[in-house]
Amino acid sequence: MAASLEVIGFDTFYGQSQALREFSIRLEGGKVLCLLGRNGAGKTTALKSIMGIIPPRKGKLLIDGNDLSEKPAYEIPKHGIGYVPQGRRLFSELTVRENLEIGLLTRSTGKQALEHALSYFPVLRERINQVSGTLSGGEQTMLAIARALCIEPSVLMLDEPTEGLMPSAIAAIRDVVIKLRDEGKAILLVEQRVDAVIPVADTVAFMDHGEIRETVAIDVLKDNPALLQKYVGV
Ligand SMILES: Nc1ncnc2c1ncn2[C@@H]1O[C@H](COP(=O)(O)OP(=O)(O)OP(=O)(O)O)[C@@H](O)[C@H]1O
Ligand SMILES: [Mg+2]
Repeated sequence: MAASLEVIGFDTFYGQSQALREFSIRLEGGKVLCLLGRNGAGKTTALKSIMGIIPPRKGKLLIDGNDLSEKPAYEIPKHGIGYVPQGRRLFSELTVRENLEIGLLTRSTGKQALEHALSYFPVLRERINQVSGTLSGGEQTMLAIARALCIEPSVLMLDEPTEGLMPSAIAAIRDVVIKLRDEGKAILLVEQRVDAVIPVADTVAFMDHGEIRETVAIDVLKDNPALLQKYVGV
C-alpha cells in the first residue's frame, strides 16, 4: 500500500495576508515526515490547504502522481488522505461509535474498516457507547485517529496529536504512529514537542513564516541541536 503525496509550491492566503509561501513537501509510504515550527508558522494552514479546506491560490497536489489540485474539500479524503485536525474536532455530544460512523460515511467504507480502525485502540472498543466528550484527552485523540483511519487512508496527516497529553498517552500514540508507518502509510506529523518527534521521524522539515526553511534527515538533527534552537527555540 505504498503511497506518495507531493505538494508543489502552495501559496495560501487569509484575505490579503499570505500564510504559505512556495510550500512544498513530499511524503512516501512507510516514512514519517515531521513538520516543526513555532506558533503561527503555518503548519495547520499547510494541512488545511492539502485537505482543500483553505485552498491554495497557487500550487499542485499530487497523490501517486494523480493531480488533485483544485479538487473540492469533500473529494480529498476519497483519495485516501486521512486527517487528524488540531484539537481533534470530535462531535463531543456523540458516542465513540457515532463519531466513527461519520468517518465511515466519508468514503463509504464499512464494518471491516471500522473493525480495523478499532484494532489499534482496544480501549475505544470498551468505550464504544460512551459519549466522546467524557473520554480522557488521550482517548479522544485515539478516537480522532481511529476516525481518520475509517477511510482506510494511505496517507495520514496528524496536527499536534500529543498537545496537552500525559506522557503515557503520548507514548501510546507514538506506538500507533510507528505501527501505521510500518504498515506502509505515508505520515505527516505536525508537532512542537521535539521529544515527540525524534523517536518516530525519518525526516524533519522546519517551517517559519509560511515557508519550509530546511529539511533534514533525523540523524542530522540529532547531531545538530542548533537547528532546534533556530526554528523551535528549545
Ligand atoms: N482563519 C484565519 N484567518 C486569518 N488568519 C489566520 C487564520 N488561521 C490562521 N491564520 C494566520 O495564519 C498564520 C499561520 O497560522 P497556523 O494556524 O497555520 O499556524 P501553526 O503553525 O499551525 O500554529 P500553532 O502551532 O499555534 O498551531 C498565523 O499568522 C495565523 O494568525
Ligand atoms: Mg496549528
